[in-house]
Amino acid sequence: MQKKVTVVGAGNVGATVAQRLAEKELADVALIDIVEGLPQGRALDLQEAAPIEKHDARVIGANTYEASEGSDLIIITAGLPRKPGMGRGDLLATNAKIVKSVIEQVAPLSSNAILIIVTNPLDAMCHVAFQASKFPKNRVVGMAGVLDGARFRSFIAAELNVSVENTHAFVLGGHGRTMVPLPRYSTVAGIPLTELLPPDRIEAVVERTRWGGAEIVDLLKTGSAYYAPASAVVEMAESILKDKKKILPCAAYLQGEYGIHDLFIGVPVKLGKNGVEEIIEVSLTKDEHAALQKSADFVRSFVESLISMDL
Ligand code: NAI
Ligand code: 2OP
Repeated sequence: MQKKVTVVGAGNVGATVAQRLAEKELADVALIDIVEGLPQGRALDLQEAAPIEKHDARVIGANTYEASEGSDLIIITAGLPRKPGMGRGDLLATNAKIVKSVIEQVAPLSSNAILIIVTNPLDAMCHVAFQASKFPKNRVVGMAGVLDGARFRSFIAAELNVSVENTHAFVLGGHGRTMVPLPRYSTVAGIPLTELLPPDRIEAVVERTRWGGAEIVDLLKTGSAYYAPASAVVEMAESILKDKKKILPCAAYLQGEYGIHDLFIGVPVKLGKNGVEEIIEVSLTKDEHAALQKSADFVRSFVESLISMDL
């Protein structure tokens, strides 16, 4: 392959991302984890599937970072997932230490790479990665909105009994219960959702989207979602690696956009070979704006806790 992607964390999300990247022949993949044998075993297993899946991507596993050198894209999934009863904030201190240490090791070996952060709590972990990598803001981006939007779309499609392919959904804000799904900007075959569903059904779909992560945690009991998260990461990766310039909701560093300063939070961005190539600002009603500010305050409280932890 012409492109190289490093995936740090060979757990549920990381291994599934590696699988989808290879099967779509988007890049060669280096899969890295601290657990001895885990990335090597998963990489070998994926490589042995290649003749049947008909791809020529190389997948290698390692416990150290030399294997990652010269990557175009680095995807960070290292860290603890939630268990039932936990909020994403319960992972803050532990995962911040993991993400900081991982970035300090992986970033210098691929100093032109783009970073996609996945580890939770997502928006705060983008800050950790931004500071530890010292990469420019366009090269640090977080995955959450594509996942939240996919959940929203799948629930809309089920509610209306239509193809998921007809749906487009719009979600702003932090990854968590303060996220701001925007029905006004969500469409089915170009028709605004607000024309197709009554307000109470829209509210039910929005609420299920807000709790989409917890719904899976409560069912799985041993961890959190990974199939849809991996699909979301790979949609972002594809847009970057192929310079497709898709507009996707991602956590990006805002410096005044939407009236928010110096904070990573979910907004629509154009994703291409330079990472976040543009932040798209749309007009919001007073209520939508207030909901976004509330979400930003929540994310900022995590970032301030991190500063007081002095990692
Ligand atoms: P997992 O437990 O299956 O995998 C995590 C992997 O990270 C483990 O294999 C572990 O050994 C590895 N790891 C831990 N410390 C490490 C270090 N210092 N260096 C390298 N590897 C290290 O968890 P899963 O389900 O893959 O989730 C990973 C993270 O992604 C969690 O924090 C989870 O909350 C988050 N997540 C975020 C989503 C989002 O929308 N942003 C969606 C799904 C998961
Ligand atoms: C999710 O929303 C765990 O944040 C992850 O499924």
